[in-house]
Amino acid sequence: MKIAVLASGRGSNLQAIIDAIAVGSCAAEIAVVLSDKADAYALERASKSGIPNFSVNPKGFENKAAYENKLLEYIRQYNCEFIVLAGYMRLVGETLLAAFPGRIINIHPALLPAFPGLHGQKQALDYGVKVAGCTVHFVDCGMDTGKIIAQRVVPVLQDDDEDSLSARILEQEHSVFPYVIDKIAKGEIYLENNKVIIKE
Ligand code: GAR
Repeated sequence: MKIAVLASGRGSNLQAIIDAIAVGSCAAEIAVVLSDKADAYALERASKSGIPNFSVNPKGFENKAAYENKLLEYIRQYNCEFIVLAGYMRLVGETLLAAFPGRIINIHPALLPAFPGLHGQKQALDYGVKVAGCTVHFVDCGMDTGKIIAQRVVPVLQDDDEDSLSARILEQEHSVFPYVIDKIAKGEIYLENNKVIIKE
C-alpha cells in the first residue's frame, strides 16, 4: 500500500514508520512526504531515507481547497492509496476528505474523545487524570473526532511534567502507529458502515 505521510514538525512518528517498514514489520511504502512547513525536520528525515518530499505553504493559496488540491497533485503523482497524518497540525478539509473517504488516519497524543486539539498531554496533566495515552483514528471533518482504531494507555506519574508525560506517550505512538498502518495495508483494519472493523 503506497501511502502519503503529512507532517508539520519533527517527524518522529514518520521515522517510526520508516524504521518499521525497513525491518519488514509494516507492509506499506511511503511514496511521498508532504509538509505545510518548509523547515519541518520530517522533510529531512524523508530525504535521508530517499523518500520524495515537498513542502506546500498554505499561505500561498487563496483558500484551503486550493491548498489541498496542491497536496492532492503530489499524492496522485505518487499513486498514493492512503494518507497518514503524523503530527500534521491542521484540520483536514473537505477537498482531501472527499478525495480519500475513509482512507486518512491520524495519531493524537491523548485518549480521545478526551483532550482533543493542541497540547493533549498538557490538558491531561492539568485535568489530573491518572492514565493518559494516544489514539489512532480515521479522520473526519471534526477536530480529532473520527472513528477510533486503536489506543495505548500509559500511567500519569505524580511528578510528571508535560515533557516526561509526552515522552512516555510518544514511545507508545511509535509502536501503535506502524502496527495500525501494517494492518490497514493488509486489509485487516477498515471502515465499514462507519464502523471500524479489525480482523485479529
Ligand atoms: C505527536 O505527539 C502527535 O501525536 C501529535 O504531534 C506530535 C508529532 O510528533 N499530533 C497531534 O497533536 C495532532 N492533533 P512527531 O512530529 O515527532 O511525530
